[in-house]
Amino acid sequence: MQNFKGGVGKSTIAVHLAQYLAIKGYRVAIVDCDSQASATTLFGYVPDLDLGEDETLYPFLREGERSSLDYALRKTHFDGLELIPANLRLFNSEYELAARMARGSESLLNRLKDGIDSIADRFDVIVMDPPPALGAISLSVLRAANALIVPVPPTVMDFSSTAAFLSMLDETIEQLAERGLAPELQFLRFVASKVDENKSMQKELLHLMRTLFGHGMIRTPLKDSAEIDNATARLMTVYELDGPATSSAVRNRCLGYLDGVNSEIELDVRSMWPSHQAALRKAALA
Ligand SMILES: Nc1ncnc2c1ncn2[C@@H]1O[C@H](COP(=O)(O)OP(=O)(O)OP(=O)(O)O)[C@@H](O)[C@H]1O
Ligand SMILES: [Mg+2]
Repeated sequence: MQNFKGGVGKSTIAVHLAQYLAIKGYRVAIVDCDSQASATTLFGYVPDLDLGEDETLYPFLREGERSSLDYALRKTHFDGLELIPANLRLFNSEYELAARMARGSESLLNRLKDGIDSIADRFDVIVMDPPPALGAISLSVLRAANALIVPVPPTVMDFSSTAAFLSMLDETIEQLAERGLAPELQFLRFVASKVDENKSMQKELLHLMRTLFGHGMIRTPLKDSAEIDNATARLMTVYELDGPATSSAVRNRCLGYLDGVNSEIELDVRSMWPSHQAALRKAALA
């Protein structure tokens, strides 16, 4: 889940996607890579009280001796879903990595990828929730990812900073490639997030996004919903709540948007899998 712009809905979508996939029976991990720890909070933790720095990505990124991220995975109240939490101390990684990279160890950008690889065989899907900045951790996430979902609210500010994000993304991928660290992205999808179609400007921008990004856009818009707001205020998610945090009608509409977005992403993910590729080849041959 990536966009250098803050507050576009990265953590909200990351957590709901991870929970949706776990409910569907996939083995899922969600890695909170942001020291603000929004995703961690949505699993009911008070990050700076409940968690020590050694329970996050921090020791793995700081030291060379750990060879696996296993130590940081913890079960959640969703069957099949594990979490690597974050807290404020993870922010230290940001300048520690930057300082060490400035001294020449660029391979550090590979460290998170190595960590993800070390647990990858235990999961069908690993969702990463990065911080909203182009720092060492975001670069590491980009390097480690094999697909990108970019949430974009259809507002002028968010849209123009996403345009900036895309050109930075281009430059960054080129720079990573020069160092032999190009990410291998199998798909990149935009999700219109926090959409309020009562605002005519948003409707126009949504139309523009669809024209520009075409099939690169997830078709279902994730509308702005009081259900998400209210669930978040209880440090919960819409999938976790048994009943409405607003009204049944609002909750059902909201579940419609969430399931719509998540099922499209699920299809994208499955299309990357060798089993799907093999089925396609078989169909082509037949
Ligand atoms: N579809 C939505 N409807 C209503 N509220 C939403 C929706 N999506 C996100 N929000 C709210 O917007 C705020 C920002 O969302 P979120 O934390 O997911 O964004 P983010 O991109 O992860 O932010 P950051 O860049 O700080 O990590 C949160 O309070 C969240 O509850
Ligand atoms: Mg976030």
